[in-house]
This record gives sequence, C-alpha cells and structure tokens, in this order.
Amino acid sequence: MDADPQTLEVALAERSYPIRIGSGVIHEAGTLLAAQRVRDAVVITNATVAAHWLAPLQRSLAGAGLRVETTMIPDGEAHKNWDTLYMVLTRLLELRAERSTMLVALGGGVVGDIAGFVAAIYQRGMPFIQIPTTLLAQVDSSVGGKTGVNHPLGKNMIGAFHQPRAVLIDTDCLRTLPSRELAAGLAEVVKVGAIRDAVFFAWLEKHVDALVACDPAALAHAIQTSCRIKAEIVAADEREHGERALLNFGHTFGHAIENAMGYGQWLHGEAVAAGMVVAAEVSARSGRIDSGVADRVRVLLGRAGLPTQAPALGFERWMSLMARDKKVQAGAIRFVLLDGLGQAVVATEVPDSLLREVLR
Ligand code: NAD
Ligand code: GLY
Repeated sequence: MDADPQTLEVALAERSYPIRIGSGVIHEAGTLLAAQRVRDAVVITNATVAAHWLAPLQRSLAGAGLRVETTMIPDGEAHKNWDTLYMVLTRLLELRAERSTMLVALGGGVVGDIAGFVAAIYQRGMPFIQIPTTLLAQVDSSVGGKTGVNHPLGKNMIGAFHQPRAVLIDTDCLRTLPSRELAAGLAEVVKVGAIRDAVFFAWLEKHVDALVACDPAALAHAIQTSCRIKAEIVAADEREHGERALLNFGHTFGHAIENAMGYGQWLHGEAVAAGMVVAAEVSARSGRIDSGVADRVRVLLGRAGLPTQAPALGFERWMSLMARDKKVQAGAIRFVLLDGLGQAVVATEVPDSLLREVLR
C-alpha cells in the first residue's frame, strides 16, 4: 500500500467520477469543487461528525472561494426517514439553494444516503459529493449512487439511484470512529472478499487483528480493495439488474434483523454480519459450499468483533419481513448465496424446510 493518496474511477461514461482515497484528502475538497466551477455548497452532516471534521472541510471550501452553508441532521439510523428528508428539503428552500448548488455529504452512511436522496429530488436533481467518515461508508455506501431513507415497513424502501460527482475518502477520519462502528464497517469488507475475491478474504484472515487495531496501512489496503471491487461491479451493473445484487449478501437477513429489532438497535454492519452467517449456513446446507467455508466466514466475522448469531425472531416473522425485500420478484425471495469462497450467486429455489432449520 502506497502512503500517497490513490485515485480510482467509477466508470459510468459521462457520469464517471473519481474516488480519492488517502490521509488528509478532506483538505482537497475546496480545490476539487473550484475545479468544477462550483460557487455555492451546502454541507449536510450531524453534530457527532461535525465536532471532529466540519472545521477542516469548511476551511478547505472557504479557502477555495466557495460560499458555504451547513445543515445539521439528527444522528442515527432511527432518523434516516421521511421527516429528516423533508426537513433538509425545507432548509434548502429557505437557503434558496439552486439546482447548481453542490451538496456535500459529510458523515456515515446515514448522512450519505439522506443527502444523496435530497440531491436526487431537490429541484429534480442537483450535484453532490460524498465525504464518508465511517469505515462502512468508505468501503460501501458512498460509492455507487444508491440513496434513500427507511420506511417503518421496510429498510431503504424509498430512494433513488443518483451518482455523486466525486467521493473523497479521508482515512484520517477513522481515528475518531468508535470501535463498534469500525467493526460494523469490517462486515462490508468481509462481504466483498466472501462474494468476489477469495485471495482478499485470505488476506483479511491474516490481517483482521491489525484492522481491528485500526492499523492505517491495513485499513488503507482494505478500503482500496473494497472500493475497487465495488466500482467494478457498479460500472458493470449500475441499476442492479444482475451482478450488483451480489453486494446484498447477508442483507436480506440483515435488513429483517434491523427492521425487527428497531432501526439503530443493531448497527447495519452488525445485522449484515449475522445475516452473512445465516446465508453461508444456508449455502452449506444447500450443498453449494463445504461447511468449512461457512465456518471461515463465521470465524472471521467473530474475530472482527461482530455478532455471528442472528436473533430468534420466529420463522413466520423472518419470512414476513424478508418478503418485503427489494430483491423479491414475482413473490419469490431471492437469496444471495455462496457457490464457493469469492463466488456468490442469486438463488430463488431455497426450500422453506431448509430455511426452517436455520432461522429460529
Ligand atoms: P452512521 O451513518 O449511523 O454512522 C455511525 C455513527 O458514527 C453515527 O453516530 C455517526 O454520527 C458516527 N460517526 C460517523 N463518522 C464518524 C467519525 N469519523 N468519528 C466519530 N463518529 C463518527 O452508520 P454507517 O454504518 O456509516 O452507515 C449505515 C447506513 O448506511 C445504513 O443506513 C445503511 O442502510 C446504509 N448503507 C447504504 C449503502 C448504499 O449503497 N447506499 C450501502 C451500505 C449501507
Ligand atoms: N450496498 C449494496 C449496493 O451498493 O449495491
């Protein structure tokens, strides 16, 4: 891993954009936006993130001559909802933000998903950039243009695809992240290895202790690899007609856990971790993988400090929650399973009897 910042690209023709990864890249925000001839910016963030990272961002933007406003939203998954969305839209109208105003999402996946959705619908669409400050947002949610909010009846059920103009991943931001949040981000890193790259999965098994200890070089390698793979998948299937669905490994079960337990009780990454253990177990019982592969997924997630046992929701409740998943087609739940380490597949033909063995 080079110490210098690296730039990857999400290749989407005229909507292509850079992902800049490295220590201190938050200070490049002003130069980046000035080069795009942006004059006005509205930063969306929350008080927790602002306490650590708003001042350097504002300095960078103001130093490049931009007029900058800031809008705070309440912190937490429980606020990733219609009310917060409406509040931000109202604030933009009060500020007389224009279609050319640049939104800047500074925060974790909650800030990024809400800000991105606001950018998708305010005056029928405005530009935005992502400055993700959690590991989860750096390796997953800031890249790929999925935006939206939760509904009491289902996770991420209201949203839009809207790609950012750039993603600035400042690895220094992870220094202030609580360890539980770091672990939650590692869930999405493990996911990438499990579905797409067995060599990376083995690297994670070797370096998981360094990652948990927040070792900068190990984290930078994990972020770069995860972003590279996510960028490839998004470039190939932006609107999730095919392989992008594989990024939802563990999510059908995980979203059910988040919804059942109450948004914010289990962190998204924690729910996905327990969901991946279930998905690997279903894969093994379906004869797709050896039980040894499912064990490796479970053990790695446990070493990352993540839950490996899904809560007992009761079979009927599991099925009713999962029937609301966005991957449901013609009433059939489509599960992302493993055909091998680094090889995921979408399957519809999982018998209820098998699910009953795994879902308590
Ligand atoms: P989050 O946004 O709630 O952030 C976690 C906590 O960390 C919050 O309290 C936040 O204020 C705090 N925080 C953020 N950065 C910090 C920092 N540098 N220092 C100290 N505290 C900091 O949670 P998350 O895990 O980042 O994101 C989860 C959300 O992302 C979920 O809503 C999930 O659905 C969504 N998501 C979206 C996509 C996508 O493709 N759009 C992909 C994966 C997840
Ligand atoms: N997190 C899943 C996706 O971006 O498609």
